[in-house]
Amino acid sequence: MNAVAPLRLAILISGRGSNMTAIARACLNGEIAARTTIVIADRADAGGLSSAADLGIPTAVIQRSTTRDAAAFEAALAATLEAQRPDAIALAGFMRILSAAFVTRFLGRMFNIHPSLLPAYRGLHTHRRVLAARETQHGASVHFVTAELDGGPVVLQSRLAVVPADTELTLSARVQATEHIIYPQALAWFAQQRLAWRNGAPWFDGRPLTTPIVEDFHAPA
Ligand code: GRF
Repeated sequence: MNAVAPLRLAILISGRGSNMTAIARACLNGEIAARTTIVIADRADAGGLSSAADLGIPTAVIQRSTTRDAAAFEAALAATLEAQRPDAIALAGFMRILSAAFVTRFLGRMFNIHPSLLPAYRGLHTHRRVLAARETQHGASVHFVTAELDGGPVVLQSRLAVVPADTELTLSARVQATEHIIYPQALAWFAQQRLAWRNGAPWFDGRPLTTPIVEDFHAPA
């Protein structure tokens, strides 16, 4: 058993929260030595809120309405997060761009998952763009969040082949299935302190992590 105390983990979502559910379940199963202390959504209609509640996880909604500017939204989000004393924060389909000041506050303990083999295909509609470019490989990336959008150091990637019959729907489903494996995996390493943030860079097993760890996933036969 790991002698280290369980991490306090906060998860931020905007949508259905399938990654959040995979991570929260992995915490409950003991696969990640962490406790999900809160799930925060920026939309009251985020489907993941009820999934979190079903798992017994406290939830909060911090909406960015027209009457609250970005700074007020971030201040409310930061206050809610700080109250949790989080050791780690997982952005899981959280569709807000966070300011450099906010990111700096949580630097080294905030992660994101992005549906591409970063640094390729930052931004939105990655599956569509990958198909349009006739790429042969695609995947997802878990990275530390820095002020550069989708630009923080990548820790772990899933890689899979794009097959001729793929549509945006089939490709996104296959990539998402891998997200539900690699995101809990990366957080488990962080909880075990195999993965760490030292002097502004990721470390793995006591060495600087200069290139991402890649896991290959094979298409179902
Ligand atoms: C995932 O595909 C993730 O890569 C991206 O947003 C999506 C979130 O899906 N950042 P879900 O809400 O976790 O189901």
